[in-house]
Amino acid sequence: DKANYRHFMAKEIHEQPEVVGHTLARYVDMASERISLPTELPFDFNDVQRISIAACGTASLAGFVAKYWFERFARLPVEVDVASEFRYREAPVRKGDLAIFISQSGETADTLAALRYAKAEGMHTLAVVNVPTSTIARESETVMPTLAGPEIGVASTKAFTCQLMTLAALAVAAGKARGVLSDADEAKLVHGLVEIPRLMTEALTHEHEIEKLARDIAKSKDVLYLGRGTSYPLALEGALKLKEISYIHAEGYAAGELKHGPIALIDETMPVVVIAPYDKVFDKTVSNMQEVAARGGRIILMTDAKGAEEATVDSMVTIVMPDMSAAFTPLVYAVPVQLLAYHTAVVMGTDVDQPRNLAKSVTVE
Ligand code: M6R
Repeated sequence: DKANYRHFMAKEIHEQPEVVGHTLARYVDMASERISLPTELPFDFNDVQRISIAACGTASLAGFVAKYWFERFARLPVEVDVASEFRYREAPVRKGDLAIFISQSGETADTLAALRYAKAEGMHTLAVVNVPTSTIARESETVMPTLAGPEIGVASTKAFTCQLMTLAALAVAAGKARGVLSDADEAKLVHGLVEIPRLMTEALTHEHEIEKLARDIAKSKDVLYLGRGTSYPLALEGALKLKEISYIHAEGYAAGELKHGPIALIDETMPVVVIAPYDKVFDKTVSNMQEVAARGGRIILMTDAKGAEEATVDSMVTIVMPDMSAAFTPLVYAVPVQLLAYHTAVVMGTDVDQPRNLAKSVTVE
């Protein structure tokens, strides 16, 4: 039931502080602020040389964010593939390494085939799934459930942020196990995670502003999304979300790639959504924004108070997110990204929960 919401997608966006909070409570001991995984892992992170992540669509983008976390917290190299590529290219993998599969439904055909391939190659398999009775959950060696509850809208929202929460906890656990993170580092990171549900609630208060922006976006034929670091996969997710429900063409790019091609597209008709919390690469992103502004492009900047103060660019609208730990910004910035896609689709009058040509669960390849 949609409660008082017009669409399941709106309800699911608003449920995020609660369900991400449940997922957090599953993987973190709130009292001691330490990671506590409910099941013992059947492998030692010190024996793992590389992690392979395979998934489809939004779930693969959660995996792409997690790559940054595993590499930073645990100094473990990660390769992320869309499952269809992983399975058919018969990626060379090492026996005993870890393969992670991410899926809301747990029934996605390509992800399941990739899991079977990894198993046959002797890898340890770990599934981050939302449906605990699903085939992917049943066939994986280890299951880390996301506690998003049933997701009805075809566009994934709460499953995505619960996947991020689960993967963040696992990446911190890996860093701790490998001795890269100290007790103090762990405590600091866990504290950052504990703050997330409250920060998501704060992010949701910007809905009205975003609704107004959406009227403008709805007039566009193309939209570009840019980000650096973990905001890069989130830019890809923003573009995916917008195209699947509003049918407006959108592309996500690493901000540093702007000059290498997409800048040729910029004119007054093309809005550019820039996801840029104030961090060590913020200045670089500001210069990208200046390049966009100089060509008449209109910018929607999603940043924090410090970023809003430092960004000196014309023709810009800012959406100011709460100040937070730099490590986990995708969990909070996902909210304005989802709201922008949602409200644009509402303006366009599309079938938000059942977009044309799409199925909630893709069980054929
Ligand atoms: O059920 P899964 O998480 O395996 O589904 C994967 C994709 O089909 C899914 O994320 C799809 O990209 C969504 N429609 C995105 O909003």
